[in-house]
Amino acid sequence: MNKKIILQHLLVSDDFVSGEALSRQYGISRQAIWKQINALMADGYQIESLRRKGYRLLRDQQISKNSLAHLVFKTTLFETVKYLSEVDSTNSYAKRQADQLATALIVAAEQTAGRGRLGRTWLSDGANSLCFSMLLRPQIAPHSAAMLTQVAAAALLRAIVRQTALSIQIKWPNDLICNGKKVAGILTEMSSELNAVEYVVIGVGLNVGNTDFKAELASIATSLAANCQAPLSRLALLEEFVAYFGDYYQSFLQTGDLAFIVDDLNNWSTVVNRSVWLLANGERRPAEAKKINRRGQLIVEVDGQLEAVHYGEVSVRLNDDRAAH
Ligand code: BTN
Repeated sequence: MNKKIILQHLLVSDDFVSGEALSRQYGISRQAIWKQINALMADGYQIESLRRKGYRLLRDQQISKNSLAHLVFKTTLFETVKYLSEVDSTNSYAKRQADQLATALIVAAEQTAGRGRLGRTWLSDGANSLCFSMLLRPQIAPHSAAMLTQVAAAALLRAIVRQTALSIQIKWPNDLICNGKKVAGILTEMSSELNAVEYVVIGVGLNVGNTDFKAELASIATSLAANCQAPLSRLALLEEFVAYFGDYYQSFLQTGDLAFIVDDLNNWSTVVNRSVWLLANGERRPAEAKKINRRGQLIVEVDGQLEAVHYGEVSVRLNDDRAAH
């Protein structure tokens, strides 16, 4: 009997859970139950305790330690779910904790030094933003890890569409676009040996309620709230994402490629069938983007020749793109 079991009891019950019933069920003293409750409270869970009635987990519709707790039991993806009231970057945190944590979902209320691809900064805005990272340990070759960005992008798109009915697109490989502006970004990082991935950290930043973008961002960034009237819940978006991602991740691990979502990736792409610039090493080359293949590579035609562009090698800029990436 440990605190995780008690937490599970609290989570499945809407009402008070009797300390006496628990002590009978597990054949331990009520003192021992109380000790575990205290340990949970020390972890940050808000638990109401009433004499004669027992213990109850306070319910919360916001993102909080309590409201995230059930995700551990809902999916086998994460051994740990961490809620942080403030952190520099959930990706950096996940990497720092990689020696201590097996798999984890790290959710932050506030990020002070969010990072984007290619060394860029990711600006978030407290409760208006959804910022989280997943620490995962897929048994895949390092060259396959980039596909996970596409897995996350497809899952995030589905989750947003399910929650908002907005029309969302994916700007290969890692941006989600709403009405021509960026609404979310994904940063995938990994630690690997030559042949095997040690861990992958997939970080997601989604602009949910932001309406005040700094002047330099206003023309390229947007939020869900700026595009839809419906009430938005960061918690519901996160739960929806975790559900889709869990399914997609399993399919990816079983099949080893993206065939199961490749149609979606192509149909939703802002890049496929467009003229693009390939930006790499300070040079830019014009190309025609043809399709995304089942390994998540962008197939482009350059000077009449087809080339497969790998994630991370180049940046793609649409000809009429005002965004920097
Ligand atoms: C990009 O658009 O270049 C990627 C942005 C990724 C931002 C998210 S927010 C949560 C996680 N923590 C970070 O520092 N970055 C990612």
